[in-house]
Amino acid sequence: MVNTAQSIIELENDNLVQTYKRPPFVLTHGDGVTLYDESGKAYTDWVAGIAVNALGYNDAGLQAAIQKASIGLIHTSNLYYTAPQAELAAALVEKSFADRVFFSNSGTEANEGAIKFARKVAYDSGAPDKTQIVAFSHAFHGRTMGSLAMTPKDKYQVPFRPLMSDVVIAEYNDIASADAAITERTCAVFIEPVQGEGGIHPATDEFLQFLRGKCDAVGALLVFDEVQCGMGRTGTLWSNEPSGVNPDIMTLAKPLAGGMPIGAILTTEKVAAHIQPGDHGTTFGGGPFITGVAKYVLDRVSEPAFLAHVRETGEYLQERLSEINSPLVVEVRGRGLMVGMELNVDVGPVIEAGYQHGLLMVNAGPNVIRFVPPLTIGKPEVDELVEKLTIILAGMGEKP
Ligand SMILES: Cc1ncc(COP(=O)(O)O)c(C=O)c1O
Repeated sequence: MVNTAQSIIELENDNLVQTYKRPPFVLTHGDGVTLYDESGKAYTDWVAGIAVNALGYNDAGLQAAIQKASIGLIHTSNLYYTAPQAELAAALVEKSFADRVFFSNSGTEANEGAIKFARKVAYDSGAPDKTQIVAFSHAFHGRTMGSLAMTPKDKYQVPFRPLMSDVVIAEYNDIASADAAITERTCAVFIEPVQGEGGIHPATDEFLQFLRGKCDAVGALLVFDEVQCGMGRTGTLWSNEPSGVNPDIMTLAKPLAGGMPIGAILTTEKVAAHIQPGDHGTTFGGGPFITGVAKYVLDRVSEPAFLAHVRETGEYLQERLSEINSPLVVEVRGRGLMVGMELNVDVGPVIEAGYQHGLLMVNAGPNVIRFVPPLTIGKPEVDELVEKLTIILAGMGEKP
């Protein structure tokens, strides 16, 4: 069979569960921050597999780390000790607030584990009704039944109810709303320090500081979901750093293994002391191959010069996007290389026009274009983006 783009598209359409609408081209390879389709057309990648491919494509160091990790052990299960899992856990502990780590395979799974950890801590406290979880408007924590219950979007939730019970939704960045929602019955408060899917909204330092105090007052765990905003994305290794607020649990996933599936729950000794053999587990999580690769990615991303590059390029990106003079632009916001451009129209046509111009972009809700590129992207690509977006938005403006 000749694998023309059309035949691959038909093959997918005939055989995959249709959970995604895709543009009509087939990606074949990448290099640096550029992806290529089957016809050879190049696209500058402002998506990075949805905030995943932190080191871009064809990175020689990552390739060597993958090769090295593939020699020897790929999988052993968690029945046995292996060095890479222990070494990655030690590195994460050294570089964060945490004392202990549990590895999963995805972001939603990390959040499910965090829910279980919080419920177990509350269960051990002897308060049978301390089961409530507080999450926030526009949050995205994943697609499994617990994470989905904390993701308050009707389109995602309604057909799948009943979801995990006892979840209360408060207004993001609204202290009065959070104060009313968090009570003695609350066992955990889940928050993205910078919301991704919900439209690129950073939490204020004041809000995170309030949550820390209120959680301590009622004996609830504060959980930071840094699945999208962690691991250097916002220009510091962890996005909570500028606020000075440490959580009890932090969940990670997306970029941790440079494009391969992994998740992690980072937590304190105090919380971990409640989790005993049999309370939680996973077949694949923490395998020697994936953790060997993740250790390489973590070492690269946490280098001060790497993080400085993210901050500098991110500031330049916001500055240049703000210069676009279009009546369609409402706001440019974000931190580091996690930036949103809100328009007063549906961004779908802008993203589609981007394909013609050789740009990959993704939305965050109906009105926000989300820029979450490989963290290695540079100023020349920012200039190219701004030049092309200016043309695209000018074209949109002409339509009735
Ligand atoms: C903040 C946040 N949490 C959790 C998830 C779920 O991660 P995964 O798709 O790996 O299950 C996502 C995915 O977009 C996310 O952005």
